[in-house]
Amino acid sequence: MIPVNWDESMYINEAKKYVGKEIEIKGWVYNIRSSGKIIFILLRDGTGIMQCVASKSDVGEEVFNKLKTLTQESSIIVQGTVHPDKRAPGGYELNLKKLVWTNITEDYPIALKEHGVGFLMGHRHLWLRSKRQWAILRIRHRIEKSLRDFFDNRGFTLIDAPILTPNACEGSTTLFQTDYFGKPAFLSQSGQLYMEAAAMAFGKVYCFGPTFRAEKSKTRRHLTEFWMIEPEIAYITFEENMRLQEDMITYIVKEVLKNCKDELDIIGRDTSPLEKIAPPFPKIHYKEALAILKKHGKEVEWGHDFGGDEETILADEFNKPVFVHHFPVETKAFYMKPDPNEPGTVLAADLLAPEGYGEIVGGSQRIDDYDLLLERLKANNLSKDDYDWYLDLRKYGSVPHGGFGLGIERTVAWIAKLPHVRETIPFPRLLGKIYP
Ligand code: 4AD
Ligand code: MG
Repeated sequence: MIPVNWDESMYINEAKKYVGKEIEIKGWVYNIRSSGKIIFILLRDGTGIMQCVASKSDVGEEVFNKLKTLTQESSIIVQGTVHPDKRAPGGYELNLKKLVWTNITEDYPIALKEHGVGFLMGHRHLWLRSKRQWAILRIRHRIEKSLRDFFDNRGFTLIDAPILTPNACEGSTTLFQTDYFGKPAFLSQSGQLYMEAAAMAFGKVYCFGPTFRAEKSKTRRHLTEFWMIEPEIAYITFEENMRLQEDMITYIVKEVLKNCKDELDIIGRDTSPLEKIAPPFPKIHYKEALAILKKHGKEVEWGHDFGGDEETILADEFNKPVFVHHFPVETKAFYMKPDPNEPGTVLAADLLAPEGYGEIVGGSQRIDDYDLLLERLKANNLSKDDYDWYLDLRKYGSVPHGGFGLGIERTVAWIAKLPHVRETIPFPRLLGKIYP
């Protein structure tokens, strides 16, 4: 059945280039219906969906009958001519002439109807083929690409951080422990400490990889394995750090709006709130945050960090992402630099996304003084021996520096306006869930 003298094959999202041409498409049956002497196949190939129309008079009785046996998710290769059709999804249609190859699927578990999330999550390996999941992961791809571009265009060097680490970065309660030749090692919670070393070597760096937290909380914002992009910059100031975040967020939102029109359309995202995203973003002191919460009947005492509910109230006050800065020392990690002008607070800011998505970025100035860092390690019950290499950075040419970490999944959830982070990552790892 191998075709002879056939021009070439195409991807569906390039249909425009092939109008009037005889062409081959390789894909899977998304849906199929027949009405007497005509069969309509919705064919998907990973780049889009295209309607293929086969009439008995064009393809002959034998092929027509074969086409009739196709089922949802059968794989097929077809040949035909492309022509524009306003009524067809995507605006083009294939007039099917030849069937080159098929592999019939039997009993595909995900029908084109509503299924419960538990069932779909258990079939994540197949669920990825559905239109909505396709759209979401394409948006994720665009966000990841534009983040990389943003930093690359500004002269940052990508430095890969290790995944197996000897110590904690973000507190010992959420560490995943593993055995490393008879000694404990931990899956990385953050590449930050290594980026600090790299910033002293390369000036402006970032890492981008998976990070792990044994989160006991079952919320719509927490995964146990999530991806983070973490820039770190030597000599940056606290204000410059926030400015960098504003530019980065604005850039990625613009890129998604520009490049993911179809995807945003498929998931039904109202893009008007995204179109308003531009610097500067509002910046509120932790004290002001407490006052706003109080106004809404949520009393939070000084020294407590915010949870999802508090973050939603704060973000709802604004129609742009908002920075909350100057958290009390005791709410944040050991490495954050206390503000010499405001004892008891650190030069840290969380960036909260609008529309109820909470913290998407956590960033800070880092302690650059050896003795102070040692003191903060002790106060956090962390052993000096484990952090000797990190302390070295304060011994040999220490400089003011800072950076931040942006969580990819929460950012995708916000930009795509999804109810839960589990749909933002191809194979989510959640409390007690690791299949498939
Ligand atoms: O605020 P976090 O814990 O900051 C750090 O890890 C710093 N070391 C980053 C740095 O300065 N280089 O985490 C940063 C971001 C959060 O704002 C959130 O978007 C995401 O990582 N995040 C999670 N996303 C999904 N599931 C979880 N369990 C997450 N924990 C943090
Ligand atoms: Mg944080």
